[in-house]
Amino acid sequence: MKTTLSQTTLNDLLRDAEIAAEKSYSPYSRFKVGAALLLEDGQIVTGTNVENVSFGLTICAERSALVRAVSEFGPDVRIAAVAVANLNGAASPPCGACRQMLSEFAEPETPIAFPAAAGARTMRFDEVLPLGFDMKLK
Ligand code: THU
Repeated sequence: MKTTLSQTTLNDLLRDAEIAAEKSYSPYSRFKVGAALLLEDGQIVTGTNVENVSFGLTICAERSALVRAVSEFGPDVRIAAVAVANLNGAASPPCGACRQMLSEFAEPETPIAFPAAAGARTMRFDEVLPLGFDMKLK
């Protein structure tokens, strides 16, 4: 799936993310987030945020989806597109931790769509994470 993805595909993926957000376990923030990953082979994997009373243990929707994808399809999964949605009508670009985690399974040009101030916005991975941590040895 190396061709440019259509807006329809991204819109469908955003809808999948929204549906996933309905499953959110977020009694502390009441912020319901969903993420949908389109894998290179066409499979779609979703995730939602799961909070904990020990707040720092909370896992974001994006990382939920990622661990689900790897658990289901193995370590070679590659992400063709990411969509994030929330049910709170707020802007919610993916947090830094999620950008770092997802980037290892995506290409620099992989699109990521998320709720921004003026509706859904789509950016490339290398735009949302221009200088991610890497460990390439000299
Ligand atoms: N959250 C996500 O699911 N994804 C993000 O990228 C940022 C924040 C969740 C974590 C927490 O459950 C709630 O949103 C409020 O921070």
